[in-house]
Amino acid sequence: MHQDIERVLISEQELAARIAELGKQVAADYADKDPIFLGILKGVVMFFSDMIRATPIQCQIDFMAVSSYGGGTSTSGKVRMLKDVSVDLRGRHVVILEDILDSGVTLSHVCAHLREMGPASLKICTLLDKPSRRQTDVKADYVGFTIPNEFVVGYGLDYDEHYRNLPYVGILKPEVYTK
Ligand code: PRP
Ligand code: MN
Ligand code: MG
Repeated sequence: MHQDIERVLISEQELAARIAELGKQVAADYADKDPIFLGILKGVVMFFSDMIRATPIQCQIDFMAVSSYGGGTSTSGKVRMLKDVSVDLRGRHVVILEDILDSGVTLSHVCAHLREMGPASLKICTLLDKPSRRQTDVKADYVGFTIPNEFVVGYGLDYDEHYRNLPYVGILKPEVYTK
């Protein structure tokens, strides 16, 4: 285990098993809809690639890149859009894939932006949900794991842009971000 990790919260095996289930559920719900899976970079990178492989239906993919945390452990409240969508969403069934729903600031902003593009439907699939921290009324339609109020990294999630390459979701040692 990485020296900055206090403990593993969700192991590689648990991630794979849950994503297999989520993929089956999403595949059943979208079988004939040719959905667009829209990933929110960068955090979603690992969940995205595993999730779409677990969802073997006709689909398209696209990405947005947004950032609001910078080097901190809580949201700045300001969402910077670094990359917008690049396909036409009008009349399409869109499933947002996200690594974590925390304060909800990011997804509230993203959903408001996407609704203006006139999708036929818009749903949220998040690997992690931390409901105790919510500041907005956004709700996910598909949730991998509901987690407690701990700062987690790995499997795409970062602290100050590091730890994204860990293959598990781990709790970061508080001394790493309090020093
Ligand atoms: C993180 C995470 C989510 C968002 C969740 O992204 O990947 O997108 O914050 O937090 P919220 O619900 O409080 O808005 P971040 O802004 O760190 O950018 P990144 O994905 O590039 O790491
Ligand atoms: Mn993100
Ligand atoms: Mg981040």
